[in-house]
Amino acid sequence: MREVRACLLLFATALASRTVLAQQQTSFLSETEDGRQIFLTNCAICHGPDGDSVYGVDLGRGKFKTASSDDDLIRILNVGVPGTSMPAFSKEFSQIEMRAVVAYLRYMKSTSSATFAPGDAIQGKVIFEGKGECLSCHRVRDRGSRVGPNLTEIGSLRRTVELRRSLLDPDAEVLPSSRFIRIVARDGVTIIGRLMNQDTLTVQLIDSKERLQSLKKANLKEYGFIDKSLMPSYRDKLNNQQLADVVSYLVTLKGIGAQ
Ligand code: HEC
Ligand code: HEC
Repeated sequence: MREVRACLLLFATALASRTVLAQQQTSFLSETEDGRQIFLTNCAICHGPDGDSVYGVDLGRGKFKTASSDDDLIRILNVGVPGTSMPAFSKEFSQIEMRAVVAYLRYMKSTSSATFAPGDAIQGKVIFEGKGECLSCHRVRDRGSRVGPNLTEIGSLRRTVELRRSLLDPDAEVLPSSRFIRIVARDGVTIIGRLMNQDTLTVQLIDSKERLQSLKKANLKEYGFIDKSLMPSYRDKLNNQQLADVVSYLVTLKGIGAQ
């Protein structure tokens, strides 16, 4: 009996320490990142990923019609702007989520840069499919490769500054969903691929030949993330105008249905 109790106690302690670990991991995901997710899911549909799609409001640069403080923003998020399509979010979000959105708005403002020279999206498409060789790694709708992330919807998901940075400085920020891992199997074979998913027993990746592989962790000698991006920098390959053209083209990529 005492053994059973000791066992239960051990089990409970193990559970408790797992909960603490989970909480620590959650707090790692910063408030801004939570805010970004909420913004992309709930706000970008009207305001755009850059926050400048509603006339007279530029959320990415802190330009509002009436709001001037964080408290004003929270109040507007709670009640919306009556008489316009700006909805009230008091039922959707907790106060913590509201604060996360406001933190993200602040982050956008602090990372926005001067307006870029406008590009020509049609020229950008020509470069994307030709000289840029972007389709050799990326997919847009039913064309291209699965080695890199699918860009069909990238214009709804990323800010212009982020798209530019992806081209100039791919190592600056590699999103968790685009991370590459290097795996060495027990027999010494090395595989590099884009991480799709992992659980306690297996890891799934898309390898450089676009094959989905599922590997048992028990069969692996080592596996870990690669910090460097596999995406080449276009800093010296495209001039300023070409870069602006490609970014303008990426901005038009808003999903399967969109043109
Ligand atoms: C259905 C479309 C729609 C959605 C979704 C939407 N908004 Fe708005 N929002 C608007 C419109 C339209 C206005 C301009 C209202 C006006 O004319 O005063 C606006 C205005 C604003 C303003 C400026 C208010 C002021 O008085 O200065 C802020 C801030 C704002 N929205 C934040 C957000 C955030 C954050 C989200 C997501 C949580 C969001 N909006 C979702 C349509 C939308
Ligand atoms: C050799 C393969 C390769 C080529 C060629 C390539 N990319 Fe990439 N690209 C990647 C990989 C891998 C990632 C994901 C890792 C990262 O974010 O750096 C990526 C990421 C991106 C992202 C960010 C995606 C996101 O989810 O934020 C954009 C935008 C992008 N590429 C656009 C382009 C454009 C435009 C071209 C052509 C001018 C191009 N890429 C050429 C491999 C490539």
